[in-house]
Amino acid sequence: MIKKITIAIDGYSSTGKSTVAKQLADYLDYIYVDTGAMYRAVTYFAMQKGYISENHFDKEALINSLDEITVGFEKAKPFETADVLLNGKNIEAEIRTLEVSSFVSPIATVPEVRRKLVHQQQLIGKQKGVSMDGRDIGTVVFPDAELKIFMNASAEQRAKRRYEELLKRGDKVVYQDVYDNVVERDRIDTTREDSPLIKADDAIEIDNSEMNLEDQFHIILQLAKDRIAGRI
Ligand code: DC
Repeated sequence: MIKKITIAIDGYSSTGKSTVAKQLADYLDYIYVDTGAMYRAVTYFAMQKGYISENHFDKEALINSLDEITVGFEKAKPFETADVLLNGKNIEAEIRTLEVSSFVSPIATVPEVRRKLVHQQQLIGKQKGVSMDGRDIGTVVFPDAELKIFMNASAEQRAKRRYEELLKRGDKVVYQDVYDNVVERDRIDTTREDSPLIKADDAIEIDNSEMNLEDQFHIILQLAKDRIAGRI
């Protein structure tokens, strides 16, 4: 039987982590988990309840209602991506807005939120054969992952990609707002006390500012194959 490994893909926002994590999972027939979507789902819940808005965040109310939140995934056609579910309802489209992006980093600083989601992520990945992307996968969720990738790209390049993605969805956004959001999320994600975004010592760093998706996939796939075969 072919050995199954755990693949942890961390890095800055909008570096294409989810794209490559998904490509790897498809190719290797692994489970794919977008952990950012889980934090976004909790953020959407907090927004719906009025716990977070511009200049207001009722952390205690969110912590007290964490038991009311169930985050899940369901396969979505036509590309067999995984859509996120909040209490059984598909909210994939709702969590990708710039508004959710602007509230998600403060929500992800809350240790109680992290504990709940990390526990769920560890259960999903228990059997190995998982490709998971996020900020703390190689450092906190799976410190023993066989393959750890840390993705980076210039803030300008990331903002440009995100901006184009939002425009394609039909969202009315201004480039500068998207850029500011990318920079602000970097700041919060790297400086928070609980599980900040840092490169694990044994992670391989990939800067994809000048790389196309296909080249990036082949580089990381080769690393995964080498790990599976025990070559590196
Ligand atoms: O990957 P993303 O941009 O969808 O993630 C949204 C936010 O969630 C990100 O700004 C930080 C947070 N996050 C986190 O703190 N830990 C993770 N494992 C994944 C995401």
